[in-house]
Amino acid sequence: MIKRVNLEITNSCNLLCKHCADDRRREVHFMDPVVAKVLLENLKADCLSSNIPLPEVRLFLSGEPLRNNKFVNFLHITNDLGYKTLVHTNGTLISRRLAKKIGKVKHHNLTISVSLDGGDEETYKQMRGLDFFNKVSAGIVLLCEHANCNVVVQCLLEKQVYLHAKELIERKYKSYFPSAKVYVRPLHNWNKKDSVEGSTKLSYGTVCDFLMHDLVIYSDLRVGLCCACLNGEHCFGHILQDWHGSIFDAYNDPNRDSLREAMKQQSHVACCANCERYGR
Ligand SMILES: C[S@@+](CC[C@H](N)C(=O)[O-])C[C@H]1O[C@@H](n2cnc3c(N)ncnc32)[C@H](O)[C@@H]1O
Ligand code: SF4
Ligand code: SF4
Repeated sequence: MIKRVNLEITNSCNLLCKHCADDRRREVHFMDPVVAKVLLENLKADCLSSNIPLPEVRLFLSGEPLRNNKFVNFLHITNDLGYKTLVHTNGTLISRRLAKKIGKVKHHNLTISVSLDGGDEETYKQMRGLDFFNKVSAGIVLLCEHANCNVVVQCLLEKQVYLHAKELIERKYKSYFPSAKVYVRPLHNWNKKDSVEGSTKLSYGTVCDFLMHDLVIYSDLRVGLCCACLNGEHCFGHILQDWHGSIFDAYNDPNRDSLREAMKQQSHVACCANCERYGR
């Protein structure tokens, strides 16, 4: 059953983070909220007629979602249609004005997760390339004050730093942002083995939740394999041209079903063979 849909509202980005899995080979696009509205209306109708709960909508994949200047329109759409909504942002473009505009949506179930990697100014700059630790911290405070939503602060750390400093940084961030949830995590590989130096090497070898329950739509409206594929590595088609705007049909497409079946049987799945989550 479909549980999460990533709508990449843009793949344009203002940072070049050292650890980012996006190698910028895709053309830059900005999704039109009018298209998103049609897709999400269709999805809601399909979920209702199949009697399944609405999936969560994730308004990001790669890129920086706040670079789409219609960002707030997307929030209105997911709110009006009743979707639980998650946004992941690098936080560099949050202003008081934007935080207040978000607050005015009065979204019934919105979480905004902000990346504040490294734990301090110097490490942040090493990881994210620019000196924005304090700017992003100020943006998080503005969200907490004005945005009427759940605020999450996510801090990625190199594995060695993570092992000795996780709790320290968690406490520090909690004191900076008392009303936010704080997650401190080690860098991970995503779908390329050893693509991030110092990342954790987990080898799950079992069915992957992303393949089973997610659908990814890139900013150019192609449908991708999963949220670990930031470069459009495996595309199945175009959501309008191949499935007439039905996220439900794209998710249930026989090509995807056969991958899920193969994974359940623990067989070889070519597009997941190099991924630490499956690796067969
Ligand atoms: C691709 S970004 C898109 C949203 C936004 N630009 C940001 O940086 O938060 C989504 C999340 O993926 C994380 N990310 C990107 N590449 C990663 C990697 N190789 N390992 C772990 N996390 C990664 C980012 O740190 C961020 O938390
Ligand atoms: S991690 Fe986010 S902010 Fe950094 S380069 Fe990738 S998409 Fe941009
Ligand atoms: S196992 Fe496949 S579907 Fe899951 S994260 Fe890896 S590449 Fe994506």
